[in-house]
Amino acid sequence: MIERGEKLLKGLILCAGKGSRLYPFTNNRPKTLIPVTNTPLLQLSIMKLTELGIDRIGIVIHPSQETDIRGQFGEGEAFGVAITYIYQHTPKGIANALKQAEDYLAGEPFLLLLGDNLISAPLSALKNDVEHGGVQASLLLAEVEDPQDYGIAEIQDSRIVGLEEKPKHPKSNLAVIGGYAFTKEIFGAVNEITPSKRGEYEITDAIQWLIEQRHAVAYHVTDQLNIDVGTKERWLLANRKLLDAGTCKIKVHDSVRMERCTIVEPVSIDKDCVLKDCRIGPYVSVGAGSRLENIQIENSIILNGVHMKDLSFPINNVIIGEHSVVAGVLIDKEVNKP
Ligand code: DAU
Repeated sequence: MIERGEKLLKGLILCAGKGSRLYPFTNNRPKTLIPVTNTPLLQLSIMKLTELGIDRIGIVIHPSQETDIRGQFGEGEAFGVAITYIYQHTPKGIANALKQAEDYLAGEPFLLLLGDNLISAPLSALKNDVEHGGVQASLLLAEVEDPQDYGIAEIQDSRIVGLEEKPKHPKSNLAVIGGYAFTKEIFGAVNEITPSKRGEYEITDAIQWLIEQRHAVAYHVTDQLNIDVGTKERWLLANRKLLDAGTCKIKVHDSVRMERCTIVEPVSIDKDCVLKDCRIGPYVSVGAGSRLENIQIENSIILNGVHMKDLSFPINNVIIGEHSVVAGVLIDKEVNKP
């Protein structure tokens, strides 16, 4: 519960960085604007913070992303928050992105989200740790199948004793999954560390520095859904999982026009789509303004303004880019008779 007069901490969402593993979809759009169940990842992160009553949010962006991100999110009015945009001119790592926000955070505790992570677990325990628990950092951890792709925590006697970024020989399968809370001490750390072998200022190294300086670092393990939407496979997985959870706002938008279609739920079909003679689903998101005719598709993501017609085979497990035109050839069975 938020007490009257209590000062709420700020949230910070990191959106700079290249998103190269999602090319070509991120060639001309920031990774954090890719939609899952027709909702941009960044909006899902903002909602995660507003769940806790947080209404001041800093978003770290590269200047080239400003038109797209500001175009969709403005100053945050539509989401009930005040957004401040902070620039990171070169993507030199998460700890470096954080450093750009030092003035904005003004010495107060804050929550940090990586903008390309989908987190279901509530962040209230992390918030409480840095506000009232006397700790300098609190992390959300989860067991993962591919620990080499994450920052991995080493735990001894229920305490974090070390963190390693994308280790070749992981000491555990407990990964840091993109939700953190910090006090101002983290800036001492980001100013001390040096770039890693891959040339980035790593957030794991900054937290390791806190541990070595005997600051208190707490953690919470979650088994709720969390996905780093960093690859096409994980993007499809995230779409499937959120559709399954049934929490997406758009199921079939009122403005959608359909003729002779079969819809196999769960699906999300955004506004102004026209669908004829299609079988859509399960696990399909269709972006706004798409026109689909005579296709069968499941377990896929269709972005906005796609035109697809006359595909004689069922489509599965694909992502169709914005404004793509995909047309098959209709074989006239009468004409082709021997
Ligand atoms: O997914 C969780 C993992 O995220 C953690 O386990 C790792 O410890 C952490 O380093 C991070 O690893 P990734 O390689 O997945 O980070 P990525 O480069 O994808 O960046 C995560 C977000 O931070 C993304 O939204 C872009 C943003 N970012 C990234 C960099 C490198 C920035 O804003 N600036 C940057 O310089």
